[in-house]
Amino acid sequence: MSVDLERRLVVRNAALVGAAVALPGLPLLASAHQQKADSPDKEPEVTATEDLMREHGVIRRALLVYAETVPKLRQNSSTVDAAALRQVAQLFRTFGEDYHERMLEEQHIFPMIRKQGAELQRYADVLTEQHNRGREVTDYVLAVTSSGKISTAHAEPLARVFETFVLMYQNHAAREDTIVFPAWKKNYSDKQLDEISDQFEDIEHKMFGKDGFEDAEKRISSIEEALGLSDLAQFTPPAPPKP
Ligand SMILES: [Fe+2]
Ligand SMILES: [Fe+2]
Repeated sequence: MSVDLERRLVVRNAALVGAAVALPGLPLLASAHQQKADSPDKEPEVTATEDLMREHGVIRRALLVYAETVPKLRQNSSTVDAAALRQVAQLFRTFGEDYHERMLEEQHIFPMIRKQGAELQRYADVLTEQHNRGREVTDYVLAVTSSGKISTAHAEPLARVFETFVLMYQNHAAREDTIVFPAWKKNYSDKQLDEISDQFEDIEHKMFGKDGFEDAEKRISSIEEALGLSDLAQFTPPAPPKP
């Protein structure tokens, strides 16, 4: 069956299921659909772009730790947990730089978008430059945290590095999510995207074992826990003043 025909059938069947939900006379179709969605024996499929974006989620949580550290560095750098910061930098290196950036974006995403016109070509250039600058930042964080504490001489330079790096990377990941990944995705059929997401998963398994993403999420969670940043509610701001 051709991919197109297959897709038309899927669309038609989805419409039928939709109709069945609306019509009380056809409850069987609806419940079969429900069963498939609720089936516990199979992990839900993660698409290639969803995969990249949830990796950004882990990276953004690392950036939040850096941002939260800035005022502490300026107030009293001896209270900063250098070991926890070092763990964030190590996670950034292995999961963010060596895997997400180097193995996925630089190998698969950027070469493809470079062929899609001057604007996307420029994005690929700038994003690659920012990956490289980020690696210098990680080297620096690893160097200044190696003794187990942050010396007062490093406190202000490190605070400034964090501020500028967080601003860069927030922009970087947001452009990838909203411009680069959607443009890249347009090059492929659903079936091809399925195959690519399997390839991405294979790379992840080769680098980290079975649960690369889950392990990275656990690592950032435990760092947040150690730094008192794990309770999400603490970030809800007070109500704004009455205008
Ligand atoms: Fe990137
Ligand atoms: Fe990215």
